[in-house]
Amino acid sequence: MKKLRSSAASSSQGAVPERFLMRLTAASPTLVSLPVIDLSGGRDEVRRAVLHAGKELGFFQVINHGMPERTMREMEMACSDFFRLPTTDKATLYSEDSEQTNRLLSSTMYRSAASESYACHCLHLACHPVERTKPSWPEKPVRLRPALEDFIIPARSIAMELLRLLCEGIGLQPDYFEGGLTGGDVIINANRYPPCADPNLTLGLPPHCDWNLITVLLQPGYVCGLQVLYNGDWIDVDPIPGALVINFGHQLEIATNGVLRSIEHRTVPNIVVGRTTVAALIMPTMDCVVGPAKELVVEGRSARYRRVAFRDFMHIYNTVGACKESVEEALKI
Ligand code: OGA
Ligand code: NI
Repeated sequence: MKKLRSSAASSSQGAVPERFLMRLTAASPTLVSLPVIDLSGGRDEVRRAVLHAGKELGFFQVINHGMPERTMREMEMACSDFFRLPTTDKATLYSEDSEQTNRLLSSTMYRSAASESYACHCLHLACHPVERTKPSWPEKPVRLRPALEDFIIPARSIAMELLRLLCEGIGLQPDYFEGGLTGGDVIINANRYPPCADPNLTLGLPPHCDWNLITVLLQPGYVCGLQVLYNGDWIDVDPIPGALVINFGHQLEIATNGVLRSIEHRTVPNIVVGRTTVAALIMPTMDCVVGPAKELVVEGRSARYRRVAFRDFMHIYNTVGACKESVEEALKI
């Protein structure tokens, strides 16, 4: 199937409202591909590939990851159905209160100023452990709860297995990230990017690094929209049917003292079709104090970040904004 890219041509379909206007200052997207790692390969080979991608970019795609195709499609369709519900069904979920976990946002929690708006609706839900969190998930559409349950369990397992491989690769105990570092909620961000008349003038999500440890992202196999910042260029993440996108958040970069990278990414709306994505964000418990692992503070690589409780990190992140530079400045030793 032909993949739909955001067109460079402007459109006569209507102007973009002023509050959505962004200055897209970076270079135009180049077509460099992210690494695609086949998880059915030999353990040594997969470990090497994951480590290489993790050190270079902290962003890659995985195939043959074990999540059934129908689980992925059902999750995507359940979220698309959710966003198509009549406004009256969604109205009670809308909230601007960042203290409230389960909520629907009409723009994004990544914005750095109240005046900024992005062409994205986001359903934000706590999903782990399933039994405790499930009663608070939206009841409509009826397929949403079973789809989430089927998705969240393998998504978390894939992330945990990747973390074990990374630990082996960088010289940490294989279970280093088990316990508090991954013991918090798994947050689902179901993102809906409506088609946009002039995709050059606005963003779906602003440049940000995820605040958590590791993210598993389900994106449709035929619509472009996600871009990552690599060596000063925005690179399109090519959609691959059946693949999952993996990216590392701030907590993984901090815990590995910068050995593994968390890089900025953003989304651009598509001129023709909407795009629905589902990100599962694995995060530490709020009390967990995250700082560089002592095994990775060695001669020539002193500790680069302060140790802070995850709760305090979230306060910093929500205060200074999602831009990587500001968060790093606030955590610098
Ligand atoms: C996110 C995110 C990317 C996408 O939810 O943090 O970066 O393509 N999503 O929706
Ligand atoms: Ni993100």
